[in-house]
Amino acid sequence: LVPPLILLPLVLLARGTPALVPADLATARRPILFVAHPDDECLFFSPAVLGMRALHAGVPVGGEEAYRPAIVVMSSAGNNYGMGETRRKEMMGSCEALGVVKDRCVVLDEELKDNPTQIWNSTIVGAYVKKYVAEFQADAIITFDDGGVSGHLNHKSVYWGIRDLVQARASIPPAFSSTTVWLLRKYSSIHDITWTALAFLPRMFFGGQVQDRALFLTTWSEYLTGRRAFFSHASQVGWDRHPYMVLSRYMMMNDLRRI
Ligand SMILES: *[C@@H]1O[C@H](CO)[C@@H](O)[C@H](O)[C@H]1NC(C)=O
Repeated sequence: LVPPLILLPLVLLARGTPALVPADLATARRPILFVAHPDDECLFFSPAVLGMRALHAGVPVGGEEAYRPAIVVMSSAGNNYGMGETRRKEMMGSCEALGVVKDRCVVLDEELKDNPTQIWNSTIVGAYVKKYVAEFQADAIITFDDGGVSGHLNHKSVYWGIRDLVQARASIPPAFSSTTVWLLRKYSSIHDITWTALAFLPRMFFGGQVQDRALFLTTWSEYLTGRRAFFSHASQVGWDRHPYMVLSRYMMMNDLRRI
């Protein structure tokens, strides 16, 4: 219990500083989050989405300098069950809670279908990524990593599509991915700060600018916002989601790595 009791306040104090957030994310005004299914954005990425927003809390709403994040969901995940429309509507509620306006909250419902046994064609994923990066003039990308957080092949496919663009030196903005941790860590809630904060400690104490990683830890009110965002996905609220909200580290912290 002792390490989290010490580390949580320290990391909260350092929120948004160069020790935890690289310049590429700190200066991004139009970050774009790419996920696979509606509810991924709050189940796995709410600390990053809300942490980025907090960095720009004082920025005026209109004009060039405005903070305008976007979320693109690759599959409505409802097409197999005739629920595409429901899930799209729920997604809009989640976006609103997370501070993303409707126009920048996109749910695709075309060739990519929800299927945990199917790898999505990386060329198709990449084409959507390029399309929405251009459309929203994105200046940073956040997405899954090679482990897809839950191991879902669609999650990994989104990563692979973006990784291929990075490797091909396509002109896309700096891209950062989630980190997938093993089961016990995943469900150790705020206790996981002990492991997650390790890589950031030297810079927290001795100064310096982190380059290739980022750490976002939610405040209590951001945590509640993340929950509210999830509960707008009413069709997805099964009994198992309640313990998830309490136990999953992804509701409280996101550590990202540069792709
Ligand atoms: C992926 O899609 C592209 C473009 O539609 C196509 O040329 C390519 O053959 C597809 N790759 C696979 C593995 O299906």
